Amino acid sequence: MTPSTETLGAPARDERLRLLERLLADTRLDAEAAGRPRTPVPAELRRAPEDGPLTPLPPPAAPRAVLDDVLPGRTAVRDYGYAPMSGADLSAILTAADRMDAGGWPAERAAGVDLELYCAAWRVTGVDTGLYRYLPRQSALCRVASLPDGPEAEDLVMQREFAQAAALLVITGNLAAALARNGSHGHRLLLTRAGAAGHAAWLTALRLDLVGTVFAGLLPHVLRERAAADGYHRAALFAFAAGPPQRQ
Ligand SMILES: Cc1cc2nc3c(=O)[nH]c(=O)nc-3n(C[C@H](O)[C@H](O)[C@H](O)COP(=O)(O)O)c2cc1C
Repeated sequence: MTPSTETLGAPARDERLRLLERLLADTRLDAEAAGRPRTPVPAELRRAPEDGPLTPLPPPAAPRAVLDDVLPGRTAVRDYGYAPMSGADLSAILTAADRMDAGGWPAERAAGVDLELYCAAWRVTGVDTGLYRYLPRQSALCRVASLPDGPEAEDLVMQREFAQAAALLVITGNLAAALARNGSHGHRLLLTRAGAAGHAAWLTALRLDLVGTVFAGLLPHVLRERAAADGYHRAALFAFAAGPPQRQ
């Protein structure tokens, strides 16, 4: 088992930090080497309008556990309890994903290369079953499509267990815009951003006593039909399934 941060001695912690710094330096070098002059993103490649009906979200729930306590138990969980997730918990998960991206890649966002966060909600208090786009500035969900419930929901996902989750976070990015701005490096950058956002969502869920897993096995036709995700202007990148734990 990987030792938790508290059980590591100072030399091992320093070693980890040095490794992390080297990895980050490599990532920057990679970005610079791939760098051709950045170009503005054309208007037609920017995000879609936000014109669906809105469901306001409550303020994000405060964490119920400290990260150090829950991190050692973090493991991919693919079976969920039937209890609903609160709207405040969902709000916290979505906020965490968005803040991670806002803090890590402000220049990409300012240039119009946003991540879009979608939420398939099945059992969230105060949110009807459906597919929504998260609007961080309004702290609201914008409905984009209906979703089936029960066994039919399993047709929406590659692994049926994910249809039993209370909610899925699906992270999409504008690959066309990312490539227009950054060249081929843009794809890698989008994947890195989606990974960071997905894991921020996961760690936040853990601190709310929820369980889940990140995953990438999405069915392209589902998002194409329901959210106009053509795989280029809107490409599904990563996802996080969340729900309350199964009680024994
Ligand atoms: C890029 C990526 C894609 C993944 N895709 C899937 C997936 O399609 N289905 C799945 O069940 N898990 C998927 N996972 C989750 C991993 O299987 C999980 O994190 C791994 O089994 C480690 O489990 P642990 O967190 O319990 O150590 C993915 C993880 C990553 C990082």
